[in-house]
This record gives sequence, structure tokens and C-alpha cells, in this order.
Amino acid sequence: MKEVKIESTFYVFETFDELPNEAAVLMQKAFEARDKAYAPYSNFNVGAAILLDNGEIIIGSNQENASYPSGLCAERTAIYYAGSQYPNAKVLRMAISATSKNKPTQSPIPPCGACRQAIAEYEVKQETPIEIYFMGETGKIAKSMSLANLLPFIFDKSVL
Ligand code: THU
Repeated sequence: MKEVKIESTFYVFETFDELPNEAAVLMQKAFEARDKAYAPYSNFNVGAAILLDNGEIIIGSNQENASYPSGLCAERTAIYYAGSQYPNAKVLRMAISATSKNKPTQSPIPPCGACRQAIAEYEVKQETPIEIYFMGETGKIAKSMSLANLLPFIFDKSVL
């Protein structure tokens, strides 16, 4: 038996002002998306904004449901919209921001596992990395250079 290690690397921006302009613009769109979330059950509003290589910016927010599992996260709302509207476009970058009515969100809030799996599908399909920026309402912003970096030991079509 041997030990196998997988490393992930993240970049952290101390404040919003430190973000490169193109990321700041996209994060601003994520804020706007977040304010459109429908989250009456969790009071946890998430917004996601996606930049496509055709210049389009797609936004999505979490959409909850009285039948809880029928709701959908912001990231998947956005990526599925992008995939269905622009099937041939590549996703360059995604920005995510989350806020809660229950407690302050001041540290980076990463996408959930199911959203990572969904985003991974498009990264594998397009064969180029998707940059992911994520944050709470305020505070530091984390950047991952790719989705694969956020989801080590990925399950993808190569095993099917
Ligand atoms: N949520 C997202 O929108 N994205 C994530 O990556 C994690 C969770 C939503 C789902 C639910 O509406 C609320 O946040 C609380 O889990």
C-alpha cells in the first residue's frame, strides 16, 4: 500500500478591491443574482454569475421549494441555463457570493459538492479550466484556477 496525496491550491484576496477588474465585475453580478434568490426556508441567499467566451454573462440564484429537495442551488441554476442557452460556448469564469439572514457570512463560501459535480461536467466537456471565485457577503474572496482543483478524484465520463 502506498499513500497518495492530492493537493489543491487556492488564491485569497483580502478585500473586494484587490480583485482584478474582470473578476470584480462578475462578482458584482453575483451580488445582483444573490438579491434575486428565492430562499424563504433557509434564508441563505446565493448568487452565481458566469462569463462565457461569447461575452455573455449568465446569472443564477438558489430557488427553494416547499418540497425541499426540489429546490436548486445558484451555481446549478446558472450553469444549466448557460448550457441550455449557449450549448457551444465555453465557461471562462464563475463568481459566487452567499449571504444569510441568520448570521454574517464573512469568509469564502465554496460551492456544494453537487454543484462542483455539475460544473465539472462542463469543464470536462470544454477541455479548458473554469476559474471559480467565491465569497460570503463581505470579507476575503477565494479563487480556484479550475473546477478540478475544487473536486479532487473527480468522477467523469472517462470512466463510463
Ligand atoms: N446553496 C447554493 O445555492 N449553493 C451552494 O453551493 C450551497 C447551497 C443553497 C441551497 C439552499 O437553497 C441554501 O443554499 C441552503 O443550503
